[in-house]
Amino acid sequence: MITILGIESSCDDTSAAVIRNGIILSNVIAGQQVHQRYGGVVPELASRAHQQNIIPVVDDALKQAGVTKEEVSAVAFTRGPGLLGSLLVGTSFAKGFSSALNIPLIEVNHLQAHVLAHFIKEDEDDVDQPAFPFLCLLVSGGNSQIILAKAYNDMEIIGKTIDDAAGEAFDKCAKVMGLGYPGGPVVDRLARMGNPDRFTFSKPRIEGYDYSFSGLKTSFLYFLRDELKFDPNFIENNKNDLCASLQKDIVDILMEKLYQAAEGTGIKEVALAGGVSANSGLRSTFEAYSKEYSWKIHIPKLAYTTDNAAMVAISGYYKFLDKDFASPDVVPYARVSI
Ligand code: KG4
Repeated sequence: MITILGIESSCDDTSAAVIRNGIILSNVIAGQQVHQRYGGVVPELASRAHQQNIIPVVDDALKQAGVTKEEVSAVAFTRGPGLLGSLLVGTSFAKGFSSALNIPLIEVNHLQAHVLAHFIKEDEDDVDQPAFPFLCLLVSGGNSQIILAKAYNDMEIIGKTIDDAAGEAFDKCAKVMGLGYPGGPVVDRLARMGNPDRFTFSKPRIEGYDYSFSGLKTSFLYFLRDELKFDPNFIENNKNDLCASLQKDIVDILMEKLYQAAEGTGIKEVALAGGVSANSGLRSTFEAYSKEYSWKIHIPKLAYTTDNAAMVAISGYYKFLDKDFASPDVVPYARVSI
């Protein structure tokens, strides 16, 4: 029996999860409200909140799983990429836990963990998992990447954003419209009532499978600035159409490169991951592409799209099977590729 405790603290969610033989037993997430008033994550506040949250969150995860500390086979933690101060909290906790219980320590790459979230099983009969090799569009507040997953521990980023992430584009444009933070889910909700063809914003022309969202963001900003000169209530009067049009453009940009990557690699097994994969427009367009191009698609359960420790625990489980353990002097990385 292999029981893995996973720890995630790369950004503003403190999370702990327990996975036994690939099956989820618990996944506890403590968010941090403190950032809302600043319109974005404040790194220093995030690491302090992680320090307060980490012990109760781990305690809850073990209790909910009905597992004692002594039954844990190994502790897996997010080493990076992420905010260094935040990562340090999870890394230090995991090191202490591993050394106190004399169990292996396993380092996990946050990006790989998002991809491996597809392998978290709810129970023994949960067998709907991607087959290798597959493509994974990882879209979150900090990442927009197309990852070629060749095996559990063998992945390659074949396309990435050269500036902003897709979630950042949602959030920054939402902020300009006064929709609060994080704005992505609000844009999604308002977009359902709007006309996606009413406005169009600048689309990037980037080589290969890479993305760019800063041009779209700037064109959105300039468009609003110009319209507000004529109608000071322009945003209020057109909010739903603005959200629907913005969402359509972001989804089009994401899907166009994903389609090119699928054509270029000849891979028809395609998955979504990351916080933005909760977006209803992206999900429905993804499903439409699957029908049109005969893709076998995998959409993660909502609980595993945003940052969570279940994905860290499942990644740790596959590393445990490979006996791929970290040294006790391992340090976190703010930036690290796959
Ligand atoms: O993966 P995630 O939880 O963590 C970070 O990367 O920080 O992703 C958060 C991002 C935010 O930018 C948020 O606005 C976006 O995911 N997001 C959404 C939706 N739900 C979350 N964006 C668009 N539509 C949604 N429904």
